[in-house]
Amino acid sequence: MDLPTLLTDRRMTRSFTGDPVDLDALTRACALALRAPTAGNCGGVRMTVVGPESVTGYLERATDPEWRAASRRVGGLSRAGALVVVTSRPTDYATRYGEPDKAASGLSDRDAWVVPYWHGDAGMATMALLLLVQDAGLGAALWGNFRHEDRVLEWLDAPGESLFATVFVGHPDRLDPPSSSRRRVVPSPAERVRRHGI
Ligand SMILES: Cc1cc2nc3c(=O)[nH]c(=O)nc-3n(C[C@H](O)[C@H](O)[C@H](O)COP(=O)(O)O)c2cc1C
Repeated sequence: MDLPTLLTDRRMTRSFTGDPVDLDALTRACALALRAPTAGNCGGVRMTVVGPESVTGYLERATDPEWRAASRRVGGLSRAGALVVVTSRPTDYATRYGEPDKAASGLSDRDAWVVPYWHGDAGMATMALLLLVQDAGLGAALWGNFRHEDRVLEWLDAPGESLFATVFVGHPDRLDPPSSSRRRVVPSPAERVRRHGI
């Protein structure tokens, strides 16, 4: 599929059939996605592929029992064929930006970053992965990190890393409960493009 079509057609998929995903192909897709730009050539993003038997274990760490009992989505998401947990290593960035060619930036202190580039790098690689998943005829749902980061990182054995997001990957069953976010009326992509001085 060509890139404009992939970008136009991509939507979050939040319910899966439970059919298997080729985990080796997904692992290769992660390596390809990690060709995304990386600030200062830090290479500080990691993608961990999680197999289907561990999706429930992930959900037990990332969510609360009350949410799982009440959620309309937990069944469909649990049928994902795999997860990709995207993490980054902030200390790699602070170290890199303390090197002689970058030291003038003043960014060797993690707290000095106006825009934490490790999140930017993680976002770029995640977008590339979403497009590769779409190109493979699969669906994906991105979950941001808003709670239980420590529990997820401990489960992954990734101490010191920063959890960016988790990508659920699988075969869409097209039974997604409607997304309240998608019902929001926002300016169209074309309306969000500005031109200045042209
Ligand atoms: C940083 C980030 C965090 C997100 N977190 C969640 C999430 O926790 N749960 C969820 O269902 N969707 C999440 N989404 C997906 C958005 O809700 C979705 O991209 C948006 O509603 C537009 O829909 P579309 O991607 O299908 O076009 C997240 C997206 C981004 C970029």
